[in-house]
Amino acid sequence: MSNPDFPQNFLWGAATSSFQVEGAAAEDGRTPSVWDTFCRVPGAVLNGDDGDTACDQYHRYRDDVDLMAALNIQTYRFSVSWPRVLPGGTLAGGVNQAGLDYYSRLVDALLDKDILPWLTLYHWDLPQVLEEAGGWTNRDTAYRFVELTQTLHDRLGDRVKVWTTLNEPWCSAFLGYTAGVHAPGRQSASEGLAAGHHLLLAHGLATQELRRAAPEAELGVTLNFTVADPVDPEDPADRDAARRVDGQFNRFFTDPIFRGSYPADLLEDLDAVGLAEGFLSHVRDGDLAAVSTPIETLGVNYYHGEAVSAHPDPEAPGNEAPVERAVSSPFPVPGGVHMHHRDLPRTDMGWEVQPEGLTRLLVRLHEEYTGPAGTRLYITENGAAYDDVVTPDGRVDDEGRRDFLEQHLRATADAIAKGADVGGYFAWSLLDNFEWAWGYSQRFGIVHVDFETQERTVKSSGWWYARVAAANALPAPAES
Ligand code: FCB
Repeated sequence: MSNPDFPQNFLWGAATSSFQVEGAAAEDGRTPSVWDTFCRVPGAVLNGDDGDTACDQYHRYRDDVDLMAALNIQTYRFSVSWPRVLPGGTLAGGVNQAGLDYYSRLVDALLDKDILPWLTLYHWDLPQVLEEAGGWTNRDTAYRFVELTQTLHDRLGDRVKVWTTLNEPWCSAFLGYTAGVHAPGRQSASEGLAAGHHLLLAHGLATQELRRAAPEAELGVTLNFTVADPVDPEDPADRDAARRVDGQFNRFFTDPIFRGSYPADLLEDLDAVGLAEGFLSHVRDGDLAAVSTPIETLGVNYYHGEAVSAHPDPEAPGNEAPVERAVSSPFPVPGGVHMHHRDLPRTDMGWEVQPEGLTRLLVRLHEEYTGPAGTRLYITENGAAYDDVVTPDGRVDDEGRRDFLEQHLRATADAIAKGADVGGYFAWSLLDNFEWAWGYSQRFGIVHVDFETQERTVKSSGWWYARVAAANALPAPAES
């Protein structure tokens, strides 16, 4: 097996998000987000878990930054809790200095250890008060997001040089407003589509604002991607089902951002079910020009792909939610699309382990979208949940996760060898944390968290990752 190394200046990072790690939900002026509310809906989150304490990073950030330094982490991707900074959701509702102070201290602690702060402005924790005004189905939310952006930049722009507007707007829009498995738990195809457009608009307007305020900053967005493969590539119906999934998952976002238009085939699919006109009524003059403002970075979150068919798979249990809720498809046009089981290993989330999909994804994005635009790709999330066990002598030997990371880093190196411009990789996640509808049942960390005591234990995958980061290369297979 070859032993790839990575380009000079390749960034080795780890990622978290505010709601998943901060805790301190009612402290220092923070108001509830949609996720605080959703956690209290019976049956919405496994075991009724919530984010009240999470990993308590709000109080323990210094120790966590020390841990990052010990793990040779060069950049920390974290997100900002909107209701901690603007408790009323808007500038008119007042800026919470205590909330801003927290992020300022976190940034200073990172810089003190030479760790690059990689700030995400929105990772799903919309102020509940804005949801009550319509949430992302309300165009106004995009303008309020610009206020959040300005507030953060005014305070941190002297030290934060890399800004990501949104994390995974597909999840915000279609898991939150169409499937109903994420906050705010609505189940409507047209609301998901409206939310999707307004999230893109928020990204575009915030990017324009940051570009004006900080011409030198690196700006971008993080999207989650699937690699949709037809079950039978010879069957036109399977190929069409895969095209539809690609359109509703990937190209709904990449086309407006890099080409300034929604994909024609997606609009035809929406039209066939009577959704196109309503959707397009949200798209006003100038919106797509804002959405396609050039960006320096595209964050790629990759976990797995899908085998897609026009025909049901009698073996497949489907896209099940972890808890008993009436769940509709996240796709606004779900008809005739079936996900099939493949004979691949799976993580504890039930997600397939499919590293070669990452190679194809990165090469495709580079060739079709980011290469021509001069935008650099970063893998802003990749990782796996396994049921870790702490041994009596306090070790966590998570060979499954280490192997997962290694396979995906090899897949990344393969994509780079094929010409993709990839600037860095962030392990999801630094810490075990609140995994949304799955609560604390799924552990993604390279560091184990005991949620009773908040004790952190670096897993063997974490020490392995530290060696890879220091060497900027994967160890030869025998050393792994
Ligand atoms: C992504 C989310 C992240 C985490 C991982 C497992 O969709 O961005 O917060 O939950 O999945």
